[in-house]
Amino acid sequence: MSGIGERYQQETKYTREDLYGRARQRHRRAAPFKDYEEPLAVIPLPEPELGGNVDLWEALRHRRSRRSYNHAVALRSEVLAALLWATQGISAGKGEILFRTAPSAGALYPVETYLSVRAVETLQPGLYHFRPEHFDLELLKKGDHSRELTAAALAQNMVQQAQVTFIWSAIVARALWKYEDRAYRYIYLDAGHIAQNLYLAGEALGLGVCAIGALFDDEINGLFDLDGTDETIVYMATVGVRAR
Ligand SMILES: Cc1cc2nc3c(=O)[nH]c(=O)nc-3n(C[C@H](O)[C@H](O)[C@H](O)COP(=O)(O)O)c2cc1C
Repeated sequence: MSGIGERYQQETKYTREDLYGRARQRHRRAAPFKDYEEPLAVIPLPEPELGGNVDLWEALRHRRSRRSYNHAVALRSEVLAALLWATQGISAGKGEILFRTAPSAGALYPVETYLSVRAVETLQPGLYHFRPEHFDLELLKKGDHSRELTAAALAQNMVQQAQVTFIWSAIVARALWKYEDRAYRYIYLDAGHIAQNLYLAGEALGLGVCAIGALFDDEINGLFDLDGTDETIVYMATVGVRAR
């Protein structure tokens, strides 16, 4: 008996024999955007500061996972806006589809972005949800949650030092109706593209970024009130002002 990973890989392969022959499972279509009914506040984001003067080739060459941050200073909100735009900014529209800076299988965009803000000028510490179509933040919980988040990330201390941590979840139904169980493959790939955009944007802006896959899923789901099934954490990344 093979493990679940191997079975998943085998059972979600497209083959010439059953690509069109499989019985459709009829999953419901999910709304393309998420809005909270009663966020504590809605905060418009400033114009992204797309500075840095680093060209793509340099950013690729120098990109590293950076885990040492200067805890004491705050990130400017224009810089945070640039990072959000780089990861999930809307860069073109066609009919009902709003295309983003990162690619997404079927342009279904199942990945949602949350932030744990510890030190960003003009933003109070708290947990936020990013809305790409409005380019704003919904405040979900007030206060610095970086300690709980650190514990949920297997005690990786960089989370507590980071000015902000990006938390990416997936609303699985957005991809499931089209791709069925194969959707999970695409969700993880989508998240990878988003994180790489964050890495490169961070590099261009002289910030430190580190991806985090080592995390207690349900502790993070709990922090953001996600059920862990319909919507579940998939990935995280810290962003910090580099320690000199
Ligand atoms: C899917 C994924 C998960 C990762 N999870 C962690 C993590 O939990 N903690 C960490 O310190 N680094 C994590 N990393 C960063 C890797 O350790 C890092 O990319 C690798 O050591 C190569 O170094 P570089 O990114 O500086 O090139 C992760 C990277 C990826 C792509």
